[in-house]
Amino acid sequence: PVDAADDMKKRAAAAALAAVAPGMRLGLGTGSTAAHFVALLGERVREGLDILCVPTSERTRAQAEALAIPLATLDEAPELDLTVDGADEFDSSLRLVKGGGGALLREKIVAAASRRFIVVADATKRVETLGAFPLPVEIDAFGARATRGHVERAAAALGLSGEVRLRSRPDGHVFVTDGGHLVLDCAFGAIPAPEALADRLAAIPGVVEHGLFLGLATAVVVAGPGGVESLGR
Ligand code: A5P
Repeated sequence: PVDAADDMKKRAAAAALAAVAPGMRLGLGTGSTAAHFVALLGERVREGLDILCVPTSERTRAQAEALAIPLATLDEAPELDLTVDGADEFDSSLRLVKGGGGALLREKIVAAASRRFIVVADATKRVETLGAFPLPVEIDAFGARATRGHVERAAAALGLSGEVRLRSRPDGHVFVTDGGHLVLDCAFGAIPAPEALADRLAAIPGVVEHGLFLGLATAVVVAGPGGVESLGR
């Protein structure tokens, strides 16, 4: 059966391929939309495209390796031309919520090392105000309960409340990131001032990174029923 949302993800990924040029150093995102991009990129590499890529997760590394896409670590290629990644939400100012797949830390480091950062998404990810998707916050395992309390109070200071849950895997075990950390999923609801929340979260000892990606995306390629549209450049 044709999955309409998946088809839109694939069309966004295909449109982003146009930004790739020979010789580029590319960051590869994580998630089902980014996986479409990596699959399409793999076809181009097989046809002879010369690129060097840095994956944002072990999952993406495995996919890219299987496709024989040339890979490097970010330390080997610390300045990237372009990163293409998905998002859980985006708004009209190209602000994002990411981390639904748990790769937010490496995703943010790689995005920050990239001259351009193109987000690929289907139109369902577009929101007026960020926060419908629970905000992922990556924390150190040490003192996780104390850190969760700090996160709740930081949000409360901005008038935000809602359940803050430690992420678990489908099998019930605690979810652990590629970096060995835990994730809090924060169901705050609408976040009218993402910058203020980002500042407060970043100031908490024990918070490794949060899923608010502000001022990082240079474009969002969004595929909807009516076609593919690009916000930003
Ligand atoms: C991974 O940590 C996330 O930031 C993903 O980019 C996000 O969850 C988007 O995934 P999908 O493309 O599967 O929706």
